Amino acid sequence: MTLRTGPSAVQPSFTPPAETVTGAGNVVVAGPLDGRPIGRSLIPARAYTGQAEFDHEQRAVFASGWVWAGYAHWVAQPGDVRPLTVGGSPLLLVRGDDHVLRVFHNACRHRGMALTEEPIQVTQRIQCAYHCWSYHLDGSLAVAPYFKRERRTHPDQDVRDQLGLLPVASAVWAGMVFVNLAADPADGDPESGLRELLAPLQQRWGHIDFERLHLAQERDFDIDANWKLVVENFLDFYHLPFIHPQVGSVAASLDVDDVIVERDIVGGCYPRGAAGKAAKTEQQLPWLGDVPAAKLESQDIFCVFPNALLFLEADWFQVIGFDPIAPDRTVEHMAVFVDRAAAGEDYGPARKRLCEVLYEVNEQDLPILHKLQTGRRSPAADRTYLVPQWDQVTAYFQERVADKAGYR
Ligand code: FES
Ligand SMILES: [Fe+2]
Repeated sequence: MTLRTGPSAVQPSFTPPAETVTGAGNVVVAGPLDGRPIGRSLIPARAYTGQAEFDHEQRAVFASGWVWAGYAHWVAQPGDVRPLTVGGSPLLLVRGDDHVLRVFHNACRHRGMALTEEPIQVTQRIQCAYHCWSYHLDGSLAVAPYFKRERRTHPDQDVRDQLGLLPVASAVWAGMVFVNLAADPADGDPESGLRELLAPLQQRWGHIDFERLHLAQERDFDIDANWKLVVENFLDFYHLPFIHPQVGSVAASLDVDDVIVERDIVGGCYPRGAAGKAAKTEQQLPWLGDVPAAKLESQDIFCVFPNALLFLEADWFQVIGFDPIAPDRTVEHMAVFVDRAAAGEDYGPARKRLCEVLYEVNEQDLPILHKLQTGRRSPAADRTYLVPQWDQVTAYFQERVADKAGYR
């Protein structure tokens, strides 16, 4: 199911927070840190290190609503099958003969064996390796050999109808696959919640034509830190001039506005981020749609709770979706997209250079994340202090985690 894009009729119920403007003209939002005592962390340190807390968050955060699960291009062709794990559950991403992308639980309906643990390409059917039951790409049961203990016997139609692969609610938006393990896929409109969630972001990005995305490159990063630190570091605009000095002058790095799109989409905007910071490519890439002049220089940075980290400029779109693997391990799947008009050889060097610049920024964060994780084992880690002038956006994220996981 491809999510409808463009302005939505759904009215968001979220009331945006109050804003103040700094002396330099940047927006700071009000939020959870207002009036909070100094030196008391919003989320307990054990939530970053404990196995029990990690397991609980897998259920309470990752299996309780819409989450990023992967990329549509991972199963580009009919018959492409790719295993994933979301909220601890093994899933299968499948591209059907009808080109529709579907998500199923990765468990054979006979004895529950995982159908594959590697990406595979099949012709028309996915076969279980145990007793050779096979499934059509739409999940329905195709063949269960010797079903009645004789040659050429098959399950009766009413049995067959009940033994298809179990579907998972899923939707594709902007090249990404989202799933919801808590939604009933048989519900009439299971993706309505995602549509509602993304409506204000789609409105903000209405000038971007996400149908034109072309994958420039992708790369995985294996990070030895808790998934929440990955998000918090992404939302931390304060560290930019200190850790990533190559992106531009201190003034350009500090020129950022807090933006709370809604409670599950938080981040910021560098109003002149694309111009005030160092040019990423010598050759100008084509815009990703009909970008108004006022947005040509801006860079948006948003986390779609809990695990899609999005960067958008006029000419490129970067996604970091991630899988929480262990309390102290997270695997990021970074993908960089450009407009399809930049897919050809003539733009090859510019695409390569853009990705190198973005990889370098991400690599600079790896030792920081490692040390943030180490620090969470200190008794001082429950007495940290988020600064209201900088960290309200991070606090919004932490508050959502605390709500979902019950850290109150
Ligand atoms: S477990 Fe799959 S066919 Fe038996
Ligand atoms: Fe960083």
